[in-house]
Amino acid sequence: MSIDSTTAGSPTGARPSVVLGVAGGIAAYKACELLRRLSESGHDVTVVPTASALEFVGAPTWSALSGKPVAADVWTSVHEVPHVRIGQGADLVVVAPATADLMAKAAHGLADDLLTNTLLTARCPVVFAPAMHTEMWEHAATRANVATLRSRGAVVIEPDEGRLTGKDTGKGRLPDPEALFEACTEILARGRVGDADSSESSMPDLAGRHVVVSAGGTREYLDPVRFLGNRSSGLQGYALARTAAARGAEVTLVAANVSLPTPAGVRLVRVETTAELRGAVVEATASADAVVMAAAPADFRPTQVSDAKIKKAADGSAPTITLIQNDDILREISTTRARAGSVIVGFAAETGDDTGSVLDLARAKLARKGCDLLVVNDVSGGAVFGSPDNEAVVLGADGAHTDVPLGSKSALAHVIWDEVARRLV
Ligand code: CTP
Repeated sequence: MSIDSTTAGSPTGARPSVVLGVAGGIAAYKACELLRRLSESGHDVTVVPTASALEFVGAPTWSALSGKPVAADVWTSVHEVPHVRIGQGADLVVVAPATADLMAKAAHGLADDLLTNTLLTARCPVVFAPAMHTEMWEHAATRANVATLRSRGAVVIEPDEGRLTGKDTGKGRLPDPEALFEACTEILARGRVGDADSSESSMPDLAGRHVVVSAGGTREYLDPVRFLGNRSSGLQGYALARTAAARGAEVTLVAANVSLPTPAGVRLVRVETTAELRGAVVEATASADAVVMAAAPADFRPTQVSDAKIKKAADGSAPTITLIQNDDILREISTTRARAGSVIVGFAAETGDDTGSVLDLARAKLARKGCDLLVVNDVSGGAVFGSPDNEAVVLGADGAHTDVPLGSKSALAHVIWDEVARRLV
């Protein structure tokens, strides 16, 4: 399902109640932008900073942006029992930035301020967006605390790589506020799906799983400035990556020539050609529980790539370009199965022809590729490139057939992950 209205994510149908926890890191300034995005999109946000966070960004800023009083301790407005009430009433708690210290406290159930108390009383989805120096993130103590939090069902978003507080660079940056916002709304929407299912476990269903998603369209160069390409936007692949991360998965996103913002917490590998795409997918597949080939790889490449720009001939004749077929990545990973029990998903855009209907051709392709699931788009009425919406049929090698009505690419992505999760052993 998608979060189309601001009431999505709230069991009561009221504005979703989000607690924004802010721990004491320099990235606290980025949480102001996250707060603004959440508030402006209709969420009821309560900011709970730690005392250290207030050293970086003061209470008046949080209060002005959220429209509510702000406290870090449990002694303010005690008659309202805030140390219990705030967590109990939340539809989502997101801690951004989450410091090593805050996650250590949360992992051990310490509760010496309002935020740590709130984390103990919350029964909704909880998201930590860590930000710290690389050494702290990689320390065995932090690794253990992150593993503990994840094992209890929290989503811990992998930090970005890049410039840190000083002159150093490495893993530990807080993802961009917009990417965090997208992750929060995705998890809120998912929370409501869970409520409707009254599922027995609050653990995200892809927690502990590594999934690989390919997205975009590859380019095959003729010379340094010209290429053969296709119109794939990468939107469906990015929706798959974003929704998988929201469902707790470790995500490797292999992106071919996509200019979309990177989803929060996703490991991005950029490629250009089908050969590069194959290399990145095959490498990541070795440790993958699931692979979804949403990319549109070019099936052919020129036999020769000119080192210099190809010039027009003086006699006006056009060059002849000879093509050679690229490897079929989906078929290769489906037949070799680098990891036993992995679930492999392909995509197919079909029009149907005089040899068979869309579904006939899709069933034949599913068998030919050897994958477990095939997501079929009927493009006889026009392509879906660049559109925010998609309509599809998901076919299973086991005979399954799931119609997915026209809806957002996130909604289709969730159906695909439902089908994958069902098949994971
Ligand atoms: N695919 C792939 N490697 C290729 C071409 C396609 O892995 N060289 C994957 C796509 O990512 C997609 C699926 O195969 O998941 C189906 O793509 P499609 O282009 O429909 O398959 P083709 O085998 O090229 O079939 P057709 O001859 O109908 O174009």
